[in-house]
Amino acid sequence: METTTGVTSPTAQGESRPYTSRLSGLYRLPLEERIALVASVAGLDAAEVAVMTGQGTEALERANASIENALGVVRLPLGIGTNLIVNGRDVLVPMAIEEPSVVAGLSNGALLVRETGGVQASADASEMIGQIQIYDLDDPVAARARLVEHRDALLALANGTMPGMVSRGGGARDLQVRLIETAMGTMLVTHLTVDVCDAMGANVVNSATEALAPECERLTGGHAGLRVLSNLATRRLARATCRVPAARLASDGLEAEQAARAFLAAQALADADPYRAATHNKGIMNGIDAVALATGNDWRAIEAGAHAWAARSGAYQPLSTWVRDPDGDLVGNIALPLAVGTQGGAVRAHAGAPVALKIMRVRHARELAEIMAAVGLVQNLAALRALATEGIQRGHMRLHARQVALAAGADGPEVYDLAERLVTWGTMSLSRAQALLKELRGE
Ligand code: MEV
Repeated sequence: METTTGVTSPTAQGESRPYTSRLSGLYRLPLEERIALVASVAGLDAAEVAVMTGQGTEALERANASIENALGVVRLPLGIGTNLIVNGRDVLVPMAIEEPSVVAGLSNGALLVRETGGVQASADASEMIGQIQIYDLDDPVAARARLVEHRDALLALANGTMPGMVSRGGGARDLQVRLIETAMGTMLVTHLTVDVCDAMGANVVNSATEALAPECERLTGGHAGLRVLSNLATRRLARATCRVPAARLASDGLEAEQAARAFLAAQALADADPYRAATHNKGIMNGIDAVALATGNDWRAIEAGAHAWAARSGAYQPLSTWVRDPDGDLVGNIALPLAVGTQGGAVRAHAGAPVALKIMRVRHARELAEIMAAVGLVQNLAALRALATEGIQRGHMRLHARQVALAAGADGPEVYDLAERLVTWGTMSLSRAQALLKELRGE
């Protein structure tokens, strides 16, 4: 059978191969042969091949040019978070995420703070840190002094590797040399700080650290080991703050005062308990990662930086804090490293990335970081409010019910009707959904 890629499924032709992960040279095969081989080994039928490879050859061709052994593209739901104001400007927020309630959570949370002017956010300059490790040193202290002495020459060398960045106003900004005690003795770690303008910056920083390493070896007599960017981007923090009138926290059966207390109790637990802090931060990253994915940014880098930052004191802490101000309103604050780009690799990650930036009306990386910090804080507000009041399952269930309704075969408006019935019945069972759908259709 023909698939959307024009590949004939080997299984459909009755051919199949023994299952094995030893597919030597898979990356050298033309795309269509690679798909056919994997389909044959994994026993995929034509419909499964079509699902895996994705609809639309443009995305598939892009995938093939991006990674090794490309087979297809994975699609995620893309939603738009509404109601958000950041620094006085309305922002529509594209969010790529499969989890129910995250987009709704952002929109609801943003509505809560809209009447107090939304979220105020700021971001540092786009400075990334690259590390050069030097070990096997006879005299680490003297070696450190040699590097510090040659700081300007090393910065000039680094700038020579990034003329484009320098011409755009970026480039090497600083060089610091740290002495680190390790299990293998005292090492030097040179931190090269680079202003990467609107890029995420990994490539430019990695190239610069690699170029500097031989000179660091020559100056110190040591051996240069790792030469790579640090994801703990402490010079690239984004911050956001917002205020929620306490009266807005009230919900069915819960007075504002009780809700505010429950909210603060949630914060107190996150401050004291890493088990809760991890979940508190997961709620924040739900929003930040969804925007990172929609805009083609490296969410693994963002996650690594956020959690390392959360643990910077030695104890894992929540990324946000909520307190009551003298008027009784809740005031939230968040700060975390956000290494995100609006140029370079990020916007080439997928065809939708530049469109997502257009939807947000974002032109610069710092503005994107500000919005993402705001999204994280508002997402946290929505999660804590739900947890402090009705719990998160009710909202989750309503959205989950729609997925069950679809799986049961509901179509168009039936999806909403059936989802409501499932919520009323308090069940998400597929067989119950199928039975209720028959009833709905009068069958
Ligand atoms: C679920 O994805 C996120 C929450 O667990 C966050 C939280 O508990 O704060 C709801």
